[in-house]
Amino acid sequence: MASPARLTLDPAFRIAPVEPRLFGSFVEHMGRCVYTGLYEPGHPAADADGFRTDVLALTRELGVTLVRYPGGNFVSNYQWEDGVGPVEDRPSRLDLAWRSVESNRFGLGEFMTWAGKAGVEPMMALNLGTRGVTEALQLVEYANYPGGTRMSELRRAHGADKPYDIRLWCLGNELDGPWQLGHKTAAEYGRLAAETARALKRFDPGLSLVACGSSNSGMPTFAAWEAEVLEAVYDLVDHVSLHAYYDPSDGDVDSFLASASDMDHMIRSIAATADHVGAKLRSRKKIGLSFDEWNVWYQSRFKGESSLDWAEAPRLIEDTYDVTDAVVVGSLLIALLRNADRVKIACQAQLANVIAPIRTEPGGPAWRQTIFHPFALTARHAHGEVLRVEPEGPAISTARYGEAPAIWATATHDDATGEIALFVVNRDRRGPCRLDVELRAPVRPVEHLEIADGDPSAANTAAAPGRVTPRPGTGLRMNGRRAELTLHPVSWTLVRFAPASPQE
Ligand code: AHR
Repeated sequence: MASPARLTLDPAFRIAPVEPRLFGSFVEHMGRCVYTGLYEPGHPAADADGFRTDVLALTRELGVTLVRYPGGNFVSNYQWEDGVGPVEDRPSRLDLAWRSVESNRFGLGEFMTWAGKAGVEPMMALNLGTRGVTEALQLVEYANYPGGTRMSELRRAHGADKPYDIRLWCLGNELDGPWQLGHKTAAEYGRLAAETARALKRFDPGLSLVACGSSNSGMPTFAAWEAEVLEAVYDLVDHVSLHAYYDPSDGDVDSFLASASDMDHMIRSIAATADHVGAKLRSRKKIGLSFDEWNVWYQSRFKGESSLDWAEAPRLIEDTYDVTDAVVVGSLLIALLRNADRVKIACQAQLANVIAPIRTEPGGPAWRQTIFHPFALTARHAHGEVLRVEPEGPAISTARYGEAPAIWATATHDDATGEIALFVVNRDRRGPCRLDVELRAPVRPVEHLEIADGDPSAANTAAAPGRVTPRPGTGLRMNGRRAELTLHPVSWTLVRFAPASPQE
């Protein structure tokens, strides 16, 4: 066994409150995320609106708080008007982002009804690729103005008497990317984002606006893009977006396991960039980070948009996730929580079928992928304040990121219940690691769960949906205010501690 690792949990060492919006997801009109994912009229589990109730139940179980919609690359050539009004009058259109045929049977009204049933906050993305300020304003008026104007009366005529009151709006999507319809330079985008933001804030100063950051940290303009865009919009927006996908397909498993180190570095880099712009502008305002696309994606298996043939709701990037992927997803959630003082919104991409925790078959079952479990347990048990946790212990050597700590952890403390939840991964493939936890509060363990397997490539499928599930951990020993536990190789662990009397 590697030399033991140790960490201290002290309720006084606080970073920031757990922001419920960190447990967001993403629904894009892409592949089968919407059609035969969320929405499948005629499915045995469909409700009167055509929503799959099995997927709705899994969405609630996952603990999703917020959903970004309708894209993604899709939004940059979307005409939102196509998706409202009587379904029989809606046009089919070519979606150039994913070379797909969009029937528009599901649009804004359906999404808002679905979001209400799922109990999630909507986060709407605007098309600033092929469209501009006017269309953005019309959409916001349609969605949020009570009535008596052209767009608000249109919404009422479409059956939604009350305004949707959508508070969170993304000013476009990944417009730094040459693949994006309406791709722009930072100067072009900064100008358009500022003009749109100014108009939206004039409509309602209380709206929360997210400016597009870089599409990923490998972009040649990473950080320079954010610096230029934020200079143009600093006083007008509330957040800047970050996107990152981690690809296991090149076989460099150690680097893949250390992906959270990259996410952590990316967050710190963009926070520093935003603060630099703030300092330059003599502003005391802090820009929040919206990590509104993140996940594991076997991206190199995807041959690109041009390889796709026109089809309606095709099977696109339906990755099957294994135990290693679940550990990485758990570790990415740990990175988001560790940065809770800056990351205010996060969305795992996507919710159903397309690189998703929930998989479905048309006319068939829905099931939980391995990555469902760390998300659901973190969303369920991370409450209160995020604690500063600094594990000490062995490292793993990675080709991409150098030495990375094998043990990566965070914890939360709920003032209301006194409960402490510890979330920890062992990223070492070579063997188990003992972890000694010093507890600076009188607590006792009440739950110990782990995701680990003798076969790290084990996955859940339609035929074996419960192959990988969290199992009760073994071997947790208390010794006064110390907990000792063994972390299996490539494992994700949750330990919950409840208050105990000082004598316990
Ligand atoms: O989530 C899949 C795609 O990844 C999104 O459409 C895009 O924003 C990102 O590049």
